[in-house]
Amino acid sequence: MKVGIIGVGTVGASVANILRDNRDIITARAGCEITAVIGVVNDLSKKRDVTIELTDDIEKVLNDDSIDIIVELMGGIEKPYEVVKKALENGKAVVTANKALLAYHRYALQDLAGDTPFEYEAAVAGGIPIINALREGLTANNIESIRGIMNGTCNYMLTKMIKEGIDYDTILKEAKELGYAEADPTFDVGGFDAAHKLLILGSIAYGIDAKPEDILIEGIQNISPEDIDFAKEFDYSIKLLTIAKKIGNKIELRVHPALIPNSEMIAKVEGVMNGVSVIGDKVGETMYYGPGAGGDATASAVIANIVDIARRGKGSPMLGFESSNKEFLTLMPKDEIQTKYYIRLRVEDKIGVLAKVATILGEKNISIEKMIQKPLNKTCAHLLLSTHTSIEKDVIEALENIENAGAVTEKPVMIRIED
Ligand code: HSE
Repeated sequence: MKVGIIGVGTVGASVANILRDNRDIITARAGCEITAVIGVVNDLSKKRDVTIELTDDIEKVLNDDSIDIIVELMGGIEKPYEVVKKALENGKAVVTANKALLAYHRYALQDLAGDTPFEYEAAVAGGIPIINALREGLTANNIESIRGIMNGTCNYMLTKMIKEGIDYDTILKEAKELGYAEADPTFDVGGFDAAHKLLILGSIAYGIDAKPEDILIEGIQNISPEDIDFAKEFDYSIKLLTIAKKIGNKIELRVHPALIPNSEMIAKVEGVMNGVSVIGDKVGETMYYGPGAGGDATASAVIANIVDIARRGKGSPMLGFESSNKEFLTLMPKDEIQTKYYIRLRVEDKIGVLAKVATILGEKNISIEKMIQKPLNKTCAHLLLSTHTSIEKDVIEALENIENAGAVTEKPVMIRIED
């Protein structure tokens, strides 16, 4: 089989070179020889560590009848969408690692692909075969929840902030220098990269056709040293968590920093690594751990899809369902989410303030679980408290009421707790 690679950056180069270097084992496993014959790049003058032919003529590759599989590694959304559509229209199988493309266009692409293989294992958690696990291995199960650490940049930053006390700006700079962050690091620290991955898993697990703007997405930008102290004091880790959870016939999809008890396996996923915990109603909890990024790890997932296509011809149903189950499961509105909350309030240290805060929380049915007060200076203190399970909109309204009542000297901060 012949493969054309559109986008020969770190991952594209790894795909070409692994197909060359591991040709014998890949041929033995696929049952036929798979060759990367050409790569498409924007700038032919840039030196690349590959031995395949390069071109800047994308149409030539898309219209080449001898090419069976297009590997799309361009990045972006609308341009790759056009390229992938054209490849499918020309009858070529497609493999992509492009999570943003899938976050917006996966259902349209599924319709367009029909029986033509369209695969995307590398789009979620890089080298971890989580798509395969959910779509094939766990197919007998109702998925009760998926909790993932699927952005290595944020996990690296939060691990360093907690373990070494390094501040946010310093560690973001370091993550950029190490090449972990996306070209625009807002995608990482703002939670969007993780959200794109979550939306893909939400489709496979539940058939939910949501877009990023439909779900709760919060980044790690506001995590402060006080929050980290609270986490340490109560034996929590802070992780950027992607959560998909079935509550009755509603599905919560959310991405946000979360406090997780250190005793949980997912809390032990540190540094740039990714981890995903899936609970199925029959299998119980299964856990997946591995590299979420990097040329060879991501290429490993791309090539797994290529081999699968070579073996089977027709792909699996792209998003895991023969027909959508949208009639049964719907997305939980953002403000109806239920979880526990950690709240940080900067207050004037004077009579009646704590009573005012407790009254406002009580009025919204929010029950306090734990609380500590940390003096900041002679007149001000931080109230750090956690709640029992509460409803998101009640917490948001209570925090607004606390602010409007003049009970705090700066905007309240809240982090959700997952235990
Ligand atoms: N920037 C991403 C991360 C790369 O940090 O995990 C893989 O999507």
